[in-house]
Amino acid sequence: MRKKIVAGNWKMNLSPGEATALFMALNELPKYDAEMIVFPPLVYVQELNRVRTSAVHLGVQNFYPIESGAFTGEVSIAQVKNVGASYALVGHSERRSVFGESGEMLRAKVNACLFHEMTPIVCCGEPLVIREANEEFSFVKDQLEECLFHLSGEQLTKTIIAYEPVWAIGTGKTASSEQAEAMHKEIRSWIAEKYGTEIANSISILYGGSCNASNAEELFNCENVDGGLIGGASLDVGAFEAILKSI
Ligand code: PGA
Repeated sequence: MRKKIVAGNWKMNLSPGEATALFMALNELPKYDAEMIVFPPLVYVQELNRVRTSAVHLGVQNFYPIESGAFTGEVSIAQVKNVGASYALVGHSERRSVFGESGEMLRAKVNACLFHEMTPIVCCGEPLVIREANEEFSFVKDQLEECLFHLSGEQLTKTIIAYEPVWAIGTGKTASSEQAEAMHKEIRSWIAEKYGTEIANSISILYGGSCNASNAEELFNCENVDGGLIGGASLDVGAFEAILKSI
């Protein structure tokens, strides 16, 4: 079943006090139609899980896809699961471009999530030069083939996809609802080709990239857009609630 989801990616923002205050405010929101997931800085996950009073889910922005060992500075997916996370972002454009994460690394991360019964939100999206060259569809298809389409159909249904055009992330330039719907529809058609329509219709595909209180409704009204992955606007409880209400 395609779930409606609104997820907040807090990135490397907020002090401990600010993070707890924002999380508590989210816990107190009325129940809307979308599942709510928050991706705080990793160091806050355990405490936020401790103070959680509602069905706000917690996820991690990053982890290392090895079980344990001599990997200074890294945390494993089992470790983050044990402190309360149930989702993980994989392939966010900032991880790809700033930290050079390869397709092979992303595939290993997806596999590690599934092995530990964690849900990966697999991000894809083209940079501006690729869109200007009208090559966005083949670019995004290659990204998904690299890190997602090696899975079995049954495994794929345990994942979520987020389409985030790189030119829209943190820039204030949102994809139009036509651009978002065109890509989401293509993504669903690639899944249908490889795995069948039943599986294609069961996968949630979120939009991300300058999604905010004023454009969320139009984006979420698109047939193939099942919710959003929200950066900047997720740091403000009023804006985040407005986005939740738009579902
Ligand atoms: P933004 O970030 O909403 O600030 O553009 C989205 C994201 O990076 O997931």
